[in-house]
Amino acid sequence: MAAAKSLVVLIMLSALLSNSFVLVLPASNFYQDFDIIWGIDKVRIRNDGEVLNLYLGKDTGSGFQSKNEYLFGKIDMQFKLVPGNSAGTVTSYYLSSQGSTWDEIDFEFLGNLSGDPYIFHTNVITQGKGDREQQFYPWFDPTSDFHTYSILWNPKTIVFYVDGTPIREFKNLESINIPYPKNQPMRIHSSLWNADDWATRGGLVKTDWTKAPFTASCRNFNAKTCIRYPAGPIISAPCPSNSSSSAWMKIDELDETSREKLKWVQKNYMIYNYCTDTKRFPKGLPLECAVATSAYVDSARV
Ligand SMILES: *[C@@H]1O[C@H](CO)[C@@H](O)[C@H](O)[C@H]1NC(C)=O
Ligand SMILES: *[C@@H]1O[C@H](CO)[C@@H](O)[C@H](O)[C@H]1NC(C)=O
Repeated sequence: MAAAKSLVVLIMLSALLSNSFVLVLPASNFYQDFDIIWGIDKVRIRNDGEVLNLYLGKDTGSGFQSKNEYLFGKIDMQFKLVPGNSAGTVTSYYLSSQGSTWDEIDFEFLGNLSGDPYIFHTNVITQGKGDREQQFYPWFDPTSDFHTYSILWNPKTIVFYVDGTPIREFKNLESINIPYPKNQPMRIHSSLWNADDWATRGGLVKTDWTKAPFTASCRNFNAKTCIRYPAGPIISAPCPSNSSSSAWMKIDELDETSREKLKWVQKNYMIYNYCTDTKRFPKGLPLECAVATSAYVDSARV
């Protein structure tokens, strides 16, 4: 912490001296930005707050949440997922509000046997209603190194990114009466837990506790947001001004290049899409699927 503080002072001093003030946000720090809320003895913060390790043992998993609540933002976090035999384990990383009509934007990383692929599971819950799962295989080994997982959330759209590549978009379709998260501030959450009743091959492969404790690491948390403290007013500056630091706030649809990337992922790596699961929705697919399908999922391999 001391190091982080002196770094901030240094940046401010050099800005004063050079007489050209550039807004540099202090590097993220797990001590400063998050509270450990589960499995306190199973979380290790290292390198002065730069890296956080989550552990899962037979007795308990572990998790943390952001001190701040956010109303919209572009949130990045790097994860290195549980290596080796991670079957039955789930590392989750999501935004969520509170209450019975909560909103939630989810990434969940479902572990697997050594050498078998993880599943990147995503969902969007609006006003307490979810059932909007999409799943993907990663196109890289998510356990050998850190990769960046991002959530863009603004009043028009929600985009899930992996290393800058969009894998999923959930647009604001209030025009056809689909609730969209825009009034309830959310916290960032992450946890590592045992879900061997469903996570790996639908629950067929169980957690091998002889391999415990399991570890996932995260670092380089970066949030460009409108911060909102509990029950307080929105206090941070860049939201929703039109400066370049709030460009994320103005994205209302993916540009051509991003759309091509999204199609590439959906064509080659998507393994489940609720919007094509007619067995699950015998009375008709959810309304948003008509729009999503024509725009983006036309060539998806499902
Ligand atoms: C685990 O590997 C099996 C076999 O390749 C695969 O069917 C499954 O989708 C993989 N992922 C999970 C999380 O079950
Ligand atoms: C931001 O908006 C204001 C007023 O709408 C405009 O005058 C200004 O040029 C804009 N700035 C940028 C960087 O677009």
